[in-house]
Amino acid sequence: MPTPHIAAQKDEIAEKILLPGDPLRAKFIAENYLKNVRQFNQVRNMLGFTGIYKNERVSVMGTGMGIPSFSIYAHELIQEYGVKTLIRIGTAGSLSKKVHVRDLVLAQSAATTSRIIRNEWPEYDLPQTANFQLLQTAHNLAKKQNLPVHVGTVLSSDLFYNEEEISNKNIKLGKYGVLAVEMETAALYYLGAKLGVQTLALLTISDSLITKESLGSQERQTSFQDMMVIGLETLIKS
Ligand code: HPA
Repeated sequence: MPTPHIAAQKDEIAEKILLPGDPLRAKFIAENYLKNVRQFNQVRNMLGFTGIYKNERVSVMGTGMGIPSFSIYAHELIQEYGVKTLIRIGTAGSLSKKVHVRDLVLAQSAATTSRIIRNEWPEYDLPQTANFQLLQTAHNLAKKQNLPVHVGTVLSSDLFYNEEEISNKNIKLGKYGVLAVEMETAALYYLGAKLGVQTLALLTISDSLITKESLGSQERQTSFQDMMVIGLETLIKS
């Protein structure tokens, strides 16, 4: 049963999973929010855990950064372990004057610079979209908590460090309504569509390409915690 990257038996992973990029965040969530926790993966230090959140069985696992790393884990979780609901929680850089550091962005859709979709669908510009029910649940929860929340398109970029010309292009996309840039969501939504499962990405703004502000590590932690709770609550309502 174990796959090349996940050393778990099939029943060790829940049908609902929260996916932070950082495996230590997965450990933090397991230790602070889940009961009866069992670690199911340590291959490449990509830690994964299953436990109980409010009487529901959920898993949490790191994915690493970028579309290739993310896609390996998401693919194996869906295809080999039967995971049905996947919620990514991560950080993003704002591309909009209206989206400030610490704000929450719910990715309704994702554009990408990656070839993964065009390689299979060269004649189409296939939109990558979130599951509406998950999106609505997360939005209601964020509103109820009075958190600053935006819903819209994000850009999943293949590059973190861009030439100035590309950075300017990304900023121009902000003027077309793209709220933020990160590096994984389009792959999550594409795999969700391809393999028939529910997906959503919740993003905290850690920096702004417009104002050049960025969050310190302590502040990142606090705003990350709001997002973890919304992620877990959305998972158990799915
Ligand atoms: N670019 C890409 N990914 C990111 C950024 C960014 O500016 N901030 C957080 N994740």
